[in-house]
Amino acid sequence: MGSMPPRKTFAEFFAGIGLVHLGLADSGWGCVYANDIDAKKQQMYADHFGDARYYHREDVWRTDAVIERLDERPFLATASFPCTDLSLAGYGRGFGGPQSSSYFGFIEVLRQLGDERPRLVMLENVVGFLTARGGGDFRRAVQTLASLGYRIDAFILDARWFVPQSRPRLFVFGFHESLDHGVILKEDADRWRQAIDRTAPLRPATLAAHYDTLRLDTGWATVDLPTPAPNERSLNDVIDLDDAQDWWDEPTTRKHEAMMEPRHRARVETMMAGGAPAAGAAFRRTRRGKPRLEVRFDLAGCLRTPRGGSARQIVLGIGRGRLRMRWMSAREYARLQGADDFAIRVSPSQAMHGFGDAVCVPAIRWIDRHVLSPIHDHEAAAHARPVLHR
Ligand SMILES: C[S@@+](CC[C@H](N)C(=O)[O-])C[C@H]1O[C@@H](n2cnc3c(N)ncnc32)[C@H](O)[C@@H]1O
Repeated sequence: MGSMPPRKTFAEFFAGIGLVHLGLADSGWGCVYANDIDAKKQQMYADHFGDARYYHREDVWRTDAVIERLDERPFLATASFPCTDLSLAGYGRGFGGPQSSSYFGFIEVLRQLGDERPRLVMLENVVGFLTARGGGDFRRAVQTLASLGYRIDAFILDARWFVPQSRPRLFVFGFHESLDHGVILKEDADRWRQAIDRTAPLRPATLAAHYDTLRLDTGWATVDLPTPAPNERSLNDVIDLDDAQDWWDEPTTRKHEAMMEPRHRARVETMMAGGAPAAGAAFRRTRRGKPRLEVRFDLAGCLRTPRGGSARQIVLGIGRGRLRMRWMSAREYARLQGADDFAIRVSPSQAMHGFGDAVCVPAIRWIDRHVLSPIHDHEAAAHARPVLHR
């Protein structure tokens, strides 16, 4: 008999409302632990997943408390740590800021788990993570992960491959050196370079530059990935265009119409002449001191937490001689994150806050199908193989 195959389990750090969980659950991953500090996120998580005993509301920096609650050691740990200091709005603080540096609280948990640390790690953050503080934060993040015995891979996956939302995100992976190498291609193999080249659309120059220059204790690795197929869901499939919606009154709509660029107004006029209404999505922004309405007709801009109101998305319904506008609903936020049926029992603003911070579920499913499950399944098969005694 071989040794015990690893169970298909994960621990979700910075769990928020649980959209990583949603993306992993379909293929049989079982959640043994979820951690977040925010009571409102926990409430949304519980509304959807039930009162999960494993959800631990605690500061990730309270390492002893976290490890004590982590009673089963998971195969996979995920960490969508806060992007606040790494995003454009983060004043360039990067890991010098109080939020994004909680990544090192997660690292401390891994460190203290010693030999029992998860075999697989997946991080998720904004693309700005690659370039924050001259790339120094990314270098430090992956070098620290590598110092714990993980080979590193990273790529950018945009939610627009799966849903009509522009949401590019950087995913970083740690494959523990102790894993059987079946599906994992190590940096020193020709197949690693070929697999990296084949997925060039997912690996911008700012990332590729690190392969030759960044020294890691372990090295780079990857899994042979396809490029995702283009998404077939349009904005019309996720936006409700019927009369029952909370459309604004004429003066409010006209005021916002006046904020549009001339080329967008011209496009709206052409679309108004059409039959069945079509959807658009917009954000209000201030450009050179003037309010502007930035409209997209193909896909929605990146959902964000509607702090201060201006980041909240606006919906346009255009056709049959009319232009209507309203705030995007929490249900539409859920659909744009691929979480169409997520239970929403909290206020719209709380729900939009939760969805704006979350991951796109089908992006996680794609990663699971091509990276996480193949590695787990190979490892399970390798353990199940009989050991031959000579
Ligand atoms: C980008 S969001 C993750 C969202 C999550 N992936 C989801 O799908 O909902 C980052 C999360 O980190 C949590 N967080 C921030 N600081 C923390 C800390 N010190 N300890 C634990 N969680 C923290 C926030 O409450 C927030 O929910």
